[in-house]
Amino acid sequence: MTDSYAVIGNPIGHTKSPLIHATFARQTGQDIEYTAIEGRIGCFREGAEGFRLAGGCGLNVTAPFKLDAFAYATDLSEQARLAGAVNALKFDGDRIHAQNFDGIGLTRDIVHNLGFPMRGKRVLLLGAGGAARGAMLPFLRQNPAQLLLVNRTASKAQALFEQFKPFAQGGFACCSYPDLGGVAEKFDMVINATSASLRGELPPVHTSVFAPDCLAYELAYGKGLTPFLRLARGAGAQRLADGVGMLVEQAAEAFAWWRGVRPETASMIERLTVPLV
Ligand code: ATR
Repeated sequence: MTDSYAVIGNPIGHTKSPLIHATFARQTGQDIEYTAIEGRIGCFREGAEGFRLAGGCGLNVTAPFKLDAFAYATDLSEQARLAGAVNALKFDGDRIHAQNFDGIGLTRDIVHNLGFPMRGKRVLLLGAGGAARGAMLPFLRQNPAQLLLVNRTASKAQALFEQFKPFAQGGFACCSYPDLGGVAEKFDMVINATSASLRGELPPVHTSVFAPDCLAYELAYGKGLTPFLRLARGAGAQRLADGVGMLVEQAAEAFAWWRGVRPETASMIERLTVPLV
């Protein structure tokens, strides 16, 4: 029997998930169907339960429902619990297992696909919202020499820092953007996990933070050369990347979690890549 999966979000018209998962299924010989569900705002539970009770096996969850999915789950992974948000669900009898693969997918893209190991490196993470929170545990598990969190609202960076401090093995700190101006240090990776690029805005970060061989990573996908990537390029960053690899890798993690087989991701990343111009 064909197993059913879906992505639920609102809006959902732009989603690449059905294409990605159908391709993974063909590639790995898995008999699944994968659709997109436009959930009604404020009615996530109804949408998810409707799918589950109709025999659905699992869901990907996207904006604005990641916190609703957190509340809906019966069994949270450590990563989902610490991220405070859920982007994948697996149904097993009356159990609703939940995961958050966003930060894991991001880390895998940086380390494996782009070839920038984090171990022993200086990492600057911009933002303290949901995207940054999801990245914290996977980043810290890579043992960077230094992880510095910066956020516009400094108290949010401080709260994130306090929550994740027990997991840090190397240097771990947080500061505000004005304080960052006084930090002489340069970073091997600067990761923009703010939502600034969605509005064409630039986080107020100085060009001096980019080490010459630095990776500048923009979590937003398909926006071309965002103000942040433009700044990084002007500062001489060696490598610019957007979130296409993160998108595909988080999908591959969910697929492997559901089906027990990990698909190959390079060809899908290449297919979805939009040039950074
Ligand atoms: P997401 O789930 O995409 O992370 P979010 O939880 O709303 O979205 O968080 C957005 C993040 O982008 C926040 O860290 C926000 O900073 P504040 O906490 O100060 O609001 C950050 N952000 C948004 N616009 C920004 C801008 N123009 N400059 C700097 N940071 C910005």
